[in-house]
Amino acid sequence: MSFYIAGTGSALPGKVVSNEDLTAFLDTSDEWIYTRTGIRRRRVLTDETLNGLAVLSAQRALEDAGVQGKDVDLILCATMRGDTVTPSLACAVAEAIGSRAPALDVNAACVGVLYCMEIADSFIAAGKAETVLIVSAEAMSKLLDWTDRSTCVLFGDGSGALVLKKGAGRLAGVLSTDPDTHVIRMPNYEGLNSPYNQSAREPLSMHMDGGEVYKFAVNAMGRNIEEVCRLAGIAPAEVDWYLPHQANIRIIDASLRKFRIRKEKVLTNIAEYGNMSATSVSVLLDEYARRGTFKKGDRLLFVAFGAGLTSGAVLVEWGRG
Ligand code: ACO
Repeated sequence: MSFYIAGTGSALPGKVVSNEDLTAFLDTSDEWIYTRTGIRRRRVLTDETLNGLAVLSAQRALEDAGVQGKDVDLILCATMRGDTVTPSLACAVAEAIGSRAPALDVNAACVGVLYCMEIADSFIAAGKAETVLIVSAEAMSKLLDWTDRSTCVLFGDGSGALVLKKGAGRLAGVLSTDPDTHVIRMPNYEGLNSPYNQSAREPLSMHMDGGEVYKFAVNAMGRNIEEVCRLAGIAPAEVDWYLPHQANIRIIDASLRKFRIRKEKVLTNIAEYGNMSATSVSVLLDEYARRGTFKKGDRLLFVAFGAGLTSGAVLVEWGRG
């Protein structure tokens, strides 16, 4: 026995930054960004905290699922960096929702929510949990070099959440790492002033070899789709909805082309939010769930890639409690 998705939520910063807005301080254009990535605008944290967004999305998911904080057995937060190094974002969520469940952060970059789903699956299968809260939250705007036009135009901030309950909705899942610590890299030497360590400090900002990431992403997304469908005993064409990580519309198109999937089955919101790292798929899920897109029995396939290089896919049936 594994899980089904019992509720979803999301919360986004109020500040909308369009591609045009970026031209005020960067040598870029809406045309360059949109044609290469599919991004029109993104949300950026101003006076909100990441903890605040995470708590809001968690509360919305709990309400949607009809679950109270005290009834959650495990809290997993997918994030690359919360407001504080410690305590974790997951502990901040636990405090706000009145839960005493074990709570921890999971850093698998953009694949974080899929890693959390598979951890939840193991806890539930082992009889250690019946209700799991997964929250994703990323403050990408705090991790970027805003003078580097090749990275800062790509990302956005936000939070999403899912409540998983014991049930038969998960059909299959695959996770993997193709270890490479260079093509996407973000050092964390901020504030280091040990008198015993004089090594050079790298700036806290993202370095990315866009071309290499692109090649890895297309390959890994295709591979994970094939593998998760094989495990579930279905063909990729039998999936009702694809929820791919929203990094670049060209990556999404190129990954799915060989499966000849109808365009309307592939859900996207990258134009509105850019790449929100771990939180891309959870915000995507919440938006389409709230529009009533998914019907009982529909098969949803989550697929993602990220720094590490991590990748994975999870296939679920909607509403199988
Ligand atoms: N505006 C205008 N010009 C730009 C910009 C910009 N914002 N950024 C780069 N350029 C220039 C470059 O300097 C280069 O100029 P040059 O030819 O004079 O040297 C030119 O545009 C072409 O640059 P490329 O890097 O070749 O552009 P490409 O078409 O490959 O697109 C992109 C770059 C969008 C980054 C693409 O490689 C990509 O999407 N890669 C994957 C990135 C990704 O998915 N990251 C997410 C994973 S990380 C994570 O999720 C945590």
